[in-house]
Amino acid sequence: ADHSYDYDVLVIGAGPGGYVAAIRAAQLGLKVACAEGRATLGGTCLNVGCIPSKAMLHGSEKYEEAANGTLARYGVKLGKVELDLGALLADKADAVKGLTGGIEFLFKKNKVDWLKGYGTFKDAHTVTVDGKDYTAKDVVIATGSSVTPLPGVEIDNDKHIVVDSTGALELPKVPKKMVVIGGGVIGLELGSVWRRLGAEVTVVEFLDQLLPGMDMDIRKEAAKIFKKQGMTLRLSTKVTGCTVKGKKATLTLEPAAGGESETLDADCVLVSIGRKPNTEGLGLEKIGLELNQRGQIETDHDFRTKVADENGAVWAIGDVIPGPMLAHKAEDEGIAVAENIAGQTGIVNHDVIPGVVYTWPEFAGVGLTEEQAKERGAVKVGKFPMMANSRAKTNHEPEGFVKVIADAETDRVLGVWCIASVAGTMIAQAAQAMEFGATSEDIAYTCHAHPTHSEAIKEAAMAVQGKPIHI
Ligand code: FAD
Ligand code: NAI
Repeated sequence: ADHSYDYDVLVIGAGPGGYVAAIRAAQLGLKVACAEGRATLGGTCLNVGCIPSKAMLHGSEKYEEAANGTLARYGVKLGKVELDLGALLADKADAVKGLTGGIEFLFKKNKVDWLKGYGTFKDAHTVTVDGKDYTAKDVVIATGSSVTPLPGVEIDNDKHIVVDSTGALELPKVPKKMVVIGGGVIGLELGSVWRRLGAEVTVVEFLDQLLPGMDMDIRKEAAKIFKKQGMTLRLSTKVTGCTVKGKKATLTLEPAAGGESETLDADCVLVSIGRKPNTEGLGLEKIGLELNQRGQIETDHDFRTKVADENGAVWAIGDVIPGPMLAHKAEDEGIAVAENIAGQTGIVNHDVIPGVVYTWPEFAGVGLTEEQAKERGAVKVGKFPMMANSRAKTNHEPEGFVKVIADAETDRVLGVWCIASVAGTMIAQAAQAMEFGATSEDIAYTCHAHPTHSEAIKEAAMAVQGKPIHI
């Protein structure tokens, strides 16, 4: 059938998935619109996620280094160190403003129309935004995710007492006692921020270790490191309720396995128990698109949903589909979906998506954990401590290690895990090596600049071969 549409592609949501898909589709010569209801582009990541949290992590690390005497070791003598929280929050707001404005500039440059408002399907080729209908051959759902609520613990970011990650990026003063519910990525990053700024932080985690999904050696070491930094960890514990009186919250805790309950007071409670896909109000019932058991939209390998006809299809990417809820995963899917819509071959290798926790030190990994790798067959594991890395040692950063997991038979690298001050930067080379199908021998025989933290990856690979030099 011959149809004419307002757009070739209409993207719903302008987070790292949606804005990247829109720009790539426009670069490929398609006429593109992107609906976004937020006042600024960039989604969770730029507005209330990756970027503001990293600004607060960076700033609070500087403050802690000055306040706790770390800098004195290098001869940097300071007078009385004081915190100007307003300045730190303003720096964070500046970073967000600069980057979200940058996306608006890129939309204009690439001629992507920003449809201001929340989109809802009328049919598979028509999306209503702010009362107006727009038609498109292909529609991409990139609506992202939002905070999973915890029954019995009501979030009210404006009061600054029981908050989610968005509220925890905006506290007007440093809480004396902060309780973080959930020892995952958000809890540890934002818990670290407020601990550095002076809060007493307790992390309540349901499971018996922090950071589910990461390699067990990393998780165990994480618990040791955060404890040493002064965080109180309550593992295997669940929160069963929360009451707020005046400016204080009182939580009820119980052992995860059940048992006697106890109470815990806090000036601020951060709920960070995960995120859920945003699908409400999209009108998916009107296009006959169902969700899976986890509330996600399923797609095929090309990111196409079941809704498709001879004219085009409905596609989905990012946090709203299965897979890790990470900005770089969403971005790569954004590029791939645009290329597929344009008739090219867009692929994302979901086996090689790095994950990084941007605390101090950083925790990073890519590929399989040792536990997962062993389920598939025999493995060889090489480990190298950062203490034996000359650069880390010189910089007084002895914490952590690198672990390389390789197939026992083929030597192909299956996973790399590291804890180091710059683990997030180091993991990129591991991801690239794995993308190229590297063996641990390939990494061991690649010349690495000296002295760098990255040499620890080379030595861990040498350890898989049985012969590191420096330990
Ligand atoms: P989102 O970024 O959530 O964007 C979706 C957008 O769609 C939103 O702007 C929303 O307003 C809009 N939208 C929703 N429904 C509609 C509709 N019907 N019509 C129009 N628009 C709609 N990931 C990392 O990789 N690294 C990090 O360091 C990191 N830090 C994080 C820190 C925090 C505190 C949080 C909360 C998350 C963090 N993440 C991080 C996760 C990252 O933010 C997400 O994985 C990423 O933003 C997902 O991108 P997305 O495009 O799928 O969705
Ligand atoms: P998460 O899934 O990382 O961690 C949630 C934690 O809460 C888990 O350890 C879980 O066991 C625990 N939990 C669940 N229910 C609980 C309960 N009732 N009581 C106590 N503990 C409970 O989720 P989080 O930290 O909320 O982050 C959401 C998403 O945002 C993550 O999927 C992550 O990918 C993304 N993100 C990524 C960042 C990064 O890449 N650096 C930074 C921040 C967020």
